[in-house]
Amino acid sequence: MATRRRGARGGGGVVASVLVAWLLAAGGAAGHYVGEGEQQQQRALDRVEALPGQPAVAFAQYSGYVTVHERRGRALFYWLTEAAGADAATKPLVLWLNGGPGCSSVAYGASEEIGPFRIKPNGTGLYLNRYSWNKEANLLFLESPAGVGFSYSNTTSDLKTSGDERTAQDSLQFLIGWMSRFPQYQHRDFYIAGESYAGHYVPQLARKIVEYNRASPHPFINLKGILVGNAVTDNYYDNVGTVTYWWTHAMISDGTYKAILKLCNFSSASVSNACNRAMSYAMNHEFGDIDQYSIYTPSCHASSDTSSSNSTARRHHRRPVLRFKDTLIRRRSNSYDPCTETYAETYYNRMDVQKAMHANTTRIPYRWTACSDVLIKTWKDSELSMLPTYRMLMKAGIRVWVFSGDTDSVVPVTATRFALSHLGLKTKIRWYPWYTAGQVGGWSEVYEGLTFATIRGAGHEVPLFQPRRAFRMFVSFLAGKPLPAKN
Ligand SMILES: *[C@@H]1O[C@H](CO)[C@@H](O)[C@H](O)[C@H]1NC(C)=O
Ligand SMILES: *[C@@H]1O[C@H](CO)[C@@H](O)[C@H](O)[C@H]1NC(C)=O
Ligand SMILES: *[C@@H]1O[C@H](CO)[C@@H](O)[C@H](O)[C@H]1NC(C)=O
Ligand SMILES: *[C@@H]1O[C@H](CO)[C@@H](O)[C@H](O)[C@H]1NC(C)=O
Ligand SMILES: *[C@@H]1O[C@H](CO)[C@@H](O)[C@H](O)[C@H]1NC(C)=O
Repeated sequence: MATRRRGARGGGGVVASVLVAWLLAAGGAAGHYVGEGEQQQQRALDRVEALPGQPAVAFAQYSGYVTVHERRGRALFYWLTEAAGADAATKPLVLWLNGGPGCSSVAYGASEEIGPFRIKPNGTGLYLNRYSWNKEANLLFLESPAGVGFSYSNTTSDLKTSGDERTAQDSLQFLIGWMSRFPQYQHRDFYIAGESYAGHYVPQLARKIVEYNRASPHPFINLKGILVGNAVTDNYYDNVGTVTYWWTHAMISDGTYKAILKLCNFSSASVSNACNRAMSYAMNHEFGDIDQYSIYTPSCHASSDTSSSNSTARRHHRRPVLRFKDTLIRRRSNSYDPCTETYAETYYNRMDVQKAMHANTTRIPYRWTACSDVLIKTWKDSELSMLPTYRMLMKAGIRVWVFSGDTDSVVPVTATRFALSHLGLKTKIRWYPWYTAGQVGGWSEVYEGLTFATIRGAGHEVPLFQPRRAFRMFVSFLAGKPLPAKN
């Protein structure tokens, strides 16, 4: 874990200028209470007429900011794409979060995975995603925490002190504020979904909501379930499972496999030099130039040698766990189509797009990027294991589904299975193949309190690689029913 804590790097004492600007501007406004009438007026202002280059659609969209910390001036950006069809008002609300830490749900979840629109090459416009999850639910994309995408803090130092706890607290604050702006979603069936490092955000926010509801005389956030994919779950089991995946998928030699298992202490917060050397050898001499997030699909070479390769991250799924002294980070670790991320960066930096989305109204002093390097490099607290939180949520009656694209080598299916097996849950439905469109969509096992499902042939961003199978899984999740054992 300590590999992430290369805190010393870059020095601490930079830039207070934005803070000063904020102090001057905010003055007496601190503590200003935004009342309900005002919130609902704000809702009308958040309505998006149409995005530049967008095809005609039959659902409503809203986007804008919710302040989550008045004094420090933190505001989170959201984008709501309501359910398509007449019954949006009765369909559930799903909050989608991406990982990183530091990556944007607008860039990934909305624009590559589950959202209604995909971005055309060069960011010239949008086209429709056939398997958009908004066929079944109202989708709320949140750029979280402050410093991601359009979400900002007027206190610059906030960007260097983010961690799991504040992310969860701010997200809860966001939901409370957002539901007062959108009271029609209070008491509505509500789910939280996400992938990768959102394997932390999703259960942590769910836990906050359960605690908040318990303390509240009139709870209104009607949390029903969580859904996480290729999720960072438990440092120890994730690491063992990842190395095992590399070996069982013939990405590394027997010798390297044994060396890593012998030299690396995955229970330890620090990484020994010997362990680091073994890891680096695997990555630099054995992996080859593959897409680690989708090991059987070609990687997009175009992106590695254009100027776009410079733009911050495109490693939204970079997870901290295996960042052995930067090795993984420095590698060009493309997602399936890293070019898509550059389209997003072109599109969301367009002035007309930002205007249409009510984004960047405060002239944020840096460009919109798919991932924030500052956040991932300075991330503070990170829970070692989410398993205790899973237990707490199951006990509270929250539906817990965990899915995994089985061709991802970054947070692979073996990592998730090792972690889940240590929950020691009772099996309700034994391991079986599930079907969609006449094919095995993946495999599933239903436990007391938790459903696990793989998506066959999907990389790290499951809905990007297997949109139809991912959509089928989502339908079953919402229904609370096992995936179909027959076609
Ligand atoms: C941040 O500062 C800008 C400029 O002073 C101000 O307009 C905005 O309301 C502030 N944001 C928050 C969340 O306080
Ligand atoms: C995309 O941009 C490049 C470089 O600016 C240009 O050469 C190309 O024609 C553009 N393609 C489209 C489809 O607009
Ligand atoms: C691994 O690290 C843990 C935590 O620092 C420590 O307790 C344990 O003794 C270490 N194991 C080995 C084999 O060094
Ligand atoms: C591109 O990356 C190089 C090396 O990392 C850096 O020196 C340069 O300033 C970057 N260029 C841009 C436009 O960001
Ligand atoms: C915000 O807008 C300013 C111009 O007003 C632009 O320079 C900056 O790149 C934008 N930042 C983001 C995060 O969109």
